[in-house]
Amino acid sequence: MLTLAKGILHHPQAINRAAQEHLVAVIRAVVAEAPLYVPVMPGTGRPMSVRMTNCGTLGWVTDKARGYRYQETHPVTEKPWPAMPNELLALWERYAAYDKPPEACLINFYADDAKMGLHQDRDEQDLQAPVLSISLGNTCLFRVGGLERGDKTSSVKLSSGDIVVLGGEGRLAFHGVDRIYPGTSTLLKQGGRINLTLRRVNR
Ligand code: SIN
Ligand code: FE2
Repeated sequence: MLTLAKGILHHPQAINRAAQEHLVAVIRAVVAEAPLYVPVMPGTGRPMSVRMTNCGTLGWVTDKARGYRYQETHPVTEKPWPAMPNELLALWERYAAYDKPPEACLINFYADDAKMGLHQDRDEQDLQAPVLSISLGNTCLFRVGGLERGDKTSSVKLSSGDIVVLGGEGRLAFHGVDRIYPGTSTLLKQGGRINLTLRRVNR
């Protein structure tokens, strides 16, 4: 385990290859029920480069009119999100070790040219709970800073099977994904990267 910044822990290769393959199958089953869609920024309606879906009782969504929020249903199908898989609950117990279970798992799919700008995860009521992030597929360059947008940042490569926990003083740290490195993993047949973030929303 490595400390990236105060409260931000990196567990390289927390998930072995067989378990990664199993997780991908689990996520494909979620996506079959709750298809990936293109989220857009509040206000501008500008599309993000990642595609998203969720599982759990709540899902994180964004759109032009109503902005960032959690809701119980998929914005396109309007159906409840698929249940949180047990495999993800087990990873939460081990790496988040928080007394309440996660309610949302945001599933981000990055094509090899996708990225995510620097942001804070701050749409949750419960900011005591950590955010647990799982990387699958191609390696990315993950950037993490401080509590202010202008703070100094540092970057680390996250590989398939890595887990990052943002908790404590790092819970509201700015973070983002600058780039994906094509061809760095054989896990996803079509390339790209999947990131799963588990969140506790309600206190
Ligand atoms: C996120 O901040 O939602 C995603 C982070 C990542 O893709 O590693
Ligand atoms: Fe985030």
